[in-house]
Amino acid sequence: MAKVLILIALCVLPSLITAAHDVRKPFVVIGKVYCDTCRCGYETPATTYIPGAMVRVECEDSNSLQVVFNVDNVTDATGTYTITVTEDHEDQLCYATLISSPQSDCTAKAPGRDKSTVILTNFNGVISNIRHANAMGFLKDSALPGCTQLLKQYQEYDE
Ligand SMILES: *[C@@H]1O[C@H](CO)[C@@H](O)[C@H](O)[C@H]1NC(C)=O
Repeated sequence: MAKVLILIALCVLPSLITAAHDVRKPFVVIGKVYCDTCRCGYETPATTYIPGAMVRVECEDSNSLQVVFNVDNVTDATGTYTITVTEDHEDQLCYATLISSPQSDCTAKAPGRDKSTVILTNFNGVISNIRHANAMGFLKDSALPGCTQLLKQYQEYDE
């Protein structure tokens, strides 16, 4: 009898836990948008963050690669955006991507830093519904004067 109960518990518990996961939806994608003020391809202490930048979360069908879902939002005063996605996007390729920057001297998308993959489904062991996307950036038209010095310090650090 005890064995049967344990067996039932082992079979039923995982599905209860899965059900609890489902209750945690919607997903919340959070990330930052920066201005690469040193035009160096990464964030530095001189990096600034862009309020009012438009970001889109987009999902492609993994077979046709057609965009089947998208939702936009803008960054707040700290350059942070929050995009709520109400449904599960299992079997789709989802990412956050830059749309536009309101900062007139920082509008070109930084190569390789304008997109960040996000997983909008409940996957192995991940209980949280919050998805932190990698920071994405625009390139400043010209590097700040202090950057040469700053980047030199970085290089010395690496050596
Ligand atoms: C857009 O951002 C605002 C402020 O952070 C938030 O309240 C709102 O829910 C967001 N919209 C979506 C679709 O996530």
